Amino acid sequence: MAVKIFPSILNVPKADIQKVIDQLSGFVDGISVDVMDGQFVPPTSFTVDDFAQWNIPIFCEVHLMVQHPELWIEGFARAGADLITIHFEAEQASVEETLKKIHSLGCQSGLALKPKTSVQDVPVHLWDLVDVPLIMSVEPGWGGQAFLPQVLEKVRYLRERYPSKDINIDGGITPETARLAREAGCTILVAGSSVFKSPDYRVAVDLLRD
Ligand code: DX5
Repeated sequence: MAVKIFPSILNVPKADIQKVIDQLSGFVDGISVDVMDGQFVPPTSFTVDDFAQWNIPIFCEVHLMVQHPELWIEGFARAGADLITIHFEAEQASVEETLKKIHSLGCQSGLALKPKTSVQDVPVHLWDLVDVPLIMSVEPGWGGQAFLPQVLEKVRYLRERYPSKDINIDGGITPETARLAREAGCTILVAGSSVFKSPDYRVAVDLLRD
C-alpha cells in the first residue's frame, strides 16, 4: 500500500489553521487533529468548537489524547471527523464500547498505544474493532520530540497479523524515520514538525513518501 501522509496541525497558530488546511488539501492524504484535555496529557489543544469552525475537505483523523474519549467522540463525529483515534491507556469505562460507539457514529476507529504500552497488553479481540492502529513513536502531548525506534516492533507485530489494515505512526516522523516506519509496515504517517518547519510544505510531504 502506498503510504499516506497526515500532517498534524497541533503547532499551527489557530489563526492560520484554515489557510494551512486549504493549502495542504491539494497534496496530502489527510489531516491529523490532536485533541488534548490537560488530564491524559498536560497540555490542552483543540475543542469540538474549534474543530467545527474549520472546513476540512479531505480525510480527517481526530486523535483524542483525552482521559474520557467516550465524552468527546459524538461531538467530533457530528462535526465531520472521518477517523477517531482513542488511547488504550485512557480511563474510559470500556475501550470496546468506545470503539463500537465510534462505528455507530459512522466513523472509522483508531486505537493508539503510547510508547511504553505493549501490543500484547491489548486483548486480541479488540483489534477486530480497530480500523487503524496508531503506534505513538513519541510520548503523547508535544510535537518536536525525537522518534523512538523501539516502537517499530509493535508495527511489525501488527503488520504480520493484519496484512491489510492501515497502520498509523505519529511522532518524530522525518524523511529518515519515515523510511523506517514504511519498512516496518506503516501505511499512514502523521508528521508535524518536519512539515511545518519546512519552507515548502509540499516538498516536505513528498520527502516523507519515499
Ligand atoms: C504528539 C502529537 C504529534 C505531534 C507531531 O502528541 O500526537 O502528532 O503533534 O509530532 P512531530 O512534531 O514530532 O511530528
